Amino acid sequence: MKANFFQGKFIVFEGLDGSGQTTQAHLLTKWFMEKRNQFAYYTKEPTDGPVGALLKLVLSKRLFCAASNGNAAPRRLDETSMALFFAADRADHLHNEVIPKLKEGVHVIADRYYLSSLAYQSVDTADYQWIKEINRNIIRPDLTIFLDVPPGICVKRMKTQRWHVELYEDLDNLERVRKNFLLAIEKSKTEGEQIEIIDGHQPPKDVHKAVVQAVKNFLRLVIAAEKNQHQKTDQQPTQQQLALLMETEPLSEPEIAAIQLG
Ligand code: TMP
Repeated sequence: MKANFFQGKFIVFEGLDGSGQTTQAHLLTKWFMEKRNQFAYYTKEPTDGPVGALLKLVLSKRLFCAASNGNAAPRRLDETSMALFFAADRADHLHNEVIPKLKEGVHVIADRYYLSSLAYQSVDTADYQWIKEINRNIIRPDLTIFLDVPPGICVKRMKTQRWHVELYEDLDNLERVRKNFLLAIEKSKTEGEQIEIIDGHQPPKDVHKAVVQAVKNFLRLVIAAEKNQHQKTDQQPTQQQLALLMETEPLSEPEIAAIQLG
């Protein structure tokens, strides 16, 4: 994976379906814009691009492949093909949305990224190392936040929020996906990735508070590293930047209430 050398930071949210990562990714985007006065851009995988659109049809069970034997039932795509489609969608996403924004100095907040491929597509047939291989050329996130919510709670949340059940959303599958996530996180951390696990089974405002704390800790390190790199060109004294950062509050309850997406 390539390091992000652009000015904008790349922060990723991961979690099981129903873990609230979409809500939290939107809240963090709003926090950057309204509390830090910095440009931030929310984006999501699967994307609205051509490959993402196809994936969404498969996920919502509206696209099946005709069976080769005329009498057999139509079949869904196997996980190897799914992993390739997700990797293709990710390449398109990086090229067309993520990298141009990072280059402009905009922070990109992504709702799902490659850990989802490692967790979801390695449940059945697709091999973990191979999934890493097909994602080899992507940009490494600067920070990944995994919202940990018990699978039973996720299923309950989805039943009350949605009228349909998507491909991977049954309890047995989500139990296996969670195990895969935790395994992938452990391995990725040993490879130097910055990943925070946050308890997502709390009210959204408390999850947001914990997210903001994790992001502030990360930004503190960024400011310190930048100070070391650009000793002479530092425009704003580091102490002042740090004080401003530490004073930045999470969003308030009314600000949070405006965004509740699941
Ligand atoms: P969401 O729109 O609710 O996040 O759902 C997207 C689904 O796609 C979710 O079940 C996870 C799945 N997914 C994968 O299986 N692999 C991937 O690489 C990505 C990005 C998502």
